[in-house]
Amino acid sequence: MSTVAGNVAEFTAVDEAPDAAWFIDFMDAANSLPAYGEIRARLAGELGELTGRAVLDVGCGTGDDTRELASLVGDGGRVVGVDLSVAMVAEARRRAAGTRLPIEFRVGDLARLELPDGSFDRVRAKLVLMHCADIEAAAAALVRVTRPGGRLAVFDYDFDTATVDHPDVDATREVVRCASDGHPNNWSGRQLARRFRDLGLRDVRVTPLTALLPFEFFHRSLSGRLASAQAGGDLRMSAGELRAWWRPLARAADENRFFGSLTGFVLGGTR
Ligand SMILES: C[S@@+](CC[C@H](N)C(=O)[O-])C[C@H]1O[C@@H](n2cnc3c(N)ncnc32)[C@H](O)[C@@H]1O
Repeated sequence: MSTVAGNVAEFTAVDEAPDAAWFIDFMDAANSLPAYGEIRARLAGELGELTGRAVLDVGCGTGDDTRELASLVGDGGRVVGVDLSVAMVAEARRRAAGTRLPIEFRVGDLARLELPDGSFDRVRAKLVLMHCADIEAAAAALVRVTRPGGRLAVFDYDFDTATVDHPDVDATREVVRCASDGHPNNWSGRQLARRFRDLGLRDVRVTPLTALLPFEFFHRSLSGRLASAQAGGDLRMSAGELRAWWRPLARAADENRFFGSLTGFVLGGTR
């Protein structure tokens, strides 16, 4: 189990959180899961050929995906990574230093993106809209900076789709509700098709993708959010009941019987 619990719902303001390093470790753990490899592959499929393209990766975090994109655009292309968090952009620059990739990182808010209209052939946002304080403005900005005929690819979870195999159904429903409600845009996944069609995106395709979550990652994702919700009165459980809720899951993990999942949606479309 992870010991220091950050609150995953605070990805909306990493620099104001008590420990920015927790969020960097969290993304490293997430991106190393098999399901995240599939998310990257499906987004790549929606973006299409990247050689020579101008590519924007918004909410780039530590920039691991951004570097992968930069390795695919070749000498004639360029990749820009933008993230709201100064700490994330510093880490992304540190990881890209010395790679000679055609890549640039900037601090910026997707809702107030200071980039010209239609300036990118390919635009990508993985696990970002669901954290944006102003999701309407953020989604509009993604479309605005994509050139006419260019491709946009987005992945977001839908937090009410969490499953976990637990003997206490009522308590588990309350935990899932509370964990979901903590996110600024907990239903972003199911809203992607409607949101981007309304913004004029063409050929919109949305495909679901369910991530199987190992117990260590499930605990890392939920424990901080649940502990702070319990302390703040947003979880209808006592501290003791919450501790008791975790126990069968830890036991199941020890016995290799843990099952937890979360479903997200990959959106692809043409401006
Ligand atoms: C869950 S992380 C995903 C990072 C990266 N896309 C990845 O998959 O590894 C969400 C990222 O979005 C950033 N973020 C949140 N709100 C943002 C906004 N309004 N504009 C730009 N980035 C934002 C956070 O700082 C964080 O780095």
